[in-house]
Amino acid sequence: MPNYVSVAKTSDIRPGRGKAFTFKGRRIAVFNDNGDFCALSNTCAHAMGSLGRGRVRNGVVTCPVHGYAYDTKTGACRTDTRLKVETYEVTVEDDEVKMMQ
Ligand code: FES
Repeated sequence: MPNYVSVAKTSDIRPGRGKAFTFKGRRIAVFNDNGDFCALSNTCAHAMGSLGRGRVRNGVVTCPVHGYAYDTKTGACRTDTRLKVETYEVTVEDDEVKMMQ
C-alpha cells in the first residue's frame, strides 16, 4: 500500500491557483483546479518560470512568465509540443493534499 505524506491543507490553495513546495528535494507546484488537486514540477520547461505562481483551469496550468500552457495530467506543453514537465500523483484525505512518499 502506497505511503502518502501531507504537503498542504486544501484550504491553503485557492481554486484556480497553485502553490510551490519542496518535496523530496524537488520544487513541486500543487494546484487546485476547481476542487481537483494535481501536482507538476514547479519549474517551467520554457525558461524556468515558477509554475506555482500561475493559474490552472480545466486541466491546464498557465505559466505566469510567458503564458506557456501545460496539461495537468501529462505535463505536456500545449504551447511548444517539444516541452514537458514532470507530473506527480496526489490524493486528498481529510482536507489534506498528500503525495506519495
Ligand atoms: S518561463 Fe514559463 S512560459 Fe516562459
